[in-house]
Amino acid sequence: MWKGRFQEATADLVEQFGESISFDWRLYSYDVAGSIAHARAQLTADLLTDEEFSAIEAGLKEIEKEIEEGKFEFSTALEDIHMNIEAELTKRIGDAGAKLHTARSRNDQVATDTRLYCRTEIDLILELLESLETALLDQAESHAATVLPGYTHLQRGQPVTVGHHLLAYVEMLARDKGRLLDCQKRLNVSPLGSGALAGSTINLDRQQIANELEFASVTTNSMDAIADRDYIAELLFALALVGAHLSRLSEDFILWSSSEFGYCTFSDAHTTGSSLMPQKKNPDVCEITRGKTGRLYGNLTAILTAIKGLPLTYNRDLQEDKEPLFDSIDTIKLTLKVNAEMISAMTINTERCEAAASDPLLLATDLADYLVKKGVPFRQAHELVGKAVAESFSQNIPLDKLDLTKIDAAYDADAKAVFNLETALRARTNPGAPCVDNVRAEIQKWRKA
Ligand code: ARG
Repeated sequence: MWKGRFQEATADLVEQFGESISFDWRLYSYDVAGSIAHARAQLTADLLTDEEFSAIEAGLKEIEKEIEEGKFEFSTALEDIHMNIEAELTKRIGDAGAKLHTARSRNDQVATDTRLYCRTEIDLILELLESLETALLDQAESHAATVLPGYTHLQRGQPVTVGHHLLAYVEMLARDKGRLLDCQKRLNVSPLGSGALAGSTINLDRQQIANELEFASVTTNSMDAIADRDYIAELLFALALVGAHLSRLSEDFILWSSSEFGYCTFSDAHTTGSSLMPQKKNPDVCEITRGKTGRLYGNLTAILTAIKGLPLTYNRDLQEDKEPLFDSIDTIKLTLKVNAEMISAMTINTERCEAAASDPLLLATDLADYLVKKGVPFRQAHELVGKAVAESFSQNIPLDKLDLTKIDAAYDADAKAVFNLETALRARTNPGAPCVDNVRAEIQKWRKA
């Protein structure tokens, strides 16, 4: 493509080192769409005849179909998807193909392709996030009233329900969707026409091109448009955070599925055995999900590091944006799919959850609240209940079986009534609290959304 200036051919190692076709081939459909829009703008500007435009369009569509069917032969000598397609087009249709690159550079071309790719992939990821939310909502609905200890420091704290616990993850995933939509909105701007860095002396109708590619607007600084990879960093951050959320969910499920907790059981189809220990049933999907979060963070770090020292505008370092991007997108899509399936097939062990939640210590805070309602200042109430808990341990009598009236005059005979899980949950009615009515209302809200 640049043979005019050079006397020597590119060294084999340089070709091998610099090629991107082995991974950027997957941008082909966006490259074809961008080229057709660009050619149509050339037609509008009378730079192409109708025949030339038709030959370009038909040629590009033919190439696209061949790539789709795996029949197209890529050449590493042609470096990337942009040159592979253009060279083949010119081979097939001659001069019209050689006109296509007028008023365009691979720099605005690659920025256009990548934005289109991200835009489409975000839509697909949003759908997968919704499927996972649905799987969580289905389990939350079945177990809206199944009581479960809520933990802080992984120590039993206060009673919640399985539904409330699972809805916490629906909240996280909903924020993830918001971030992705926001990123999608910001990246939906057409860089085509920015040229190599300074536009072109040949003015094509940038708005026409943007309209055809369904971009909301056109970029307003040619240098920024060429150098900008913010949208990749943003997307990789949003995906890294999805990974963080799924990893926390995995950790909860790994604990829940252990014999020590026993709150849930995964289907055989979503677990694996051990090659040595015949009894094992391992939550590998959760563990791999937790593990893959590392590469999502790594990919974000890679793009942030790649852009940090770059002078304006295009530098070849930017070619390093694609593999982390593709990897995070592939990783998150498969992770979301397998988790949705696993969660749908998972069994919540209601008795184990309720047995764990029947620990009277979960209601120690409620006992303090009982004293507060009798006029005891909270700090004193906290201390009085703390004494009762210490007493329960030293006498080896469960807190709810202790004669509290003997511990302090502040306790009346009705103090025992505090130790009722159902009333304790029913009392938690504030917005965001886990009473069953709230949980059911939240499930309805999310279903509608
Ligand atoms: N393969 C290149 C990339 O992915 C395309 C742009 C090349 N531009 C250039 N000036 N060498 O970034």
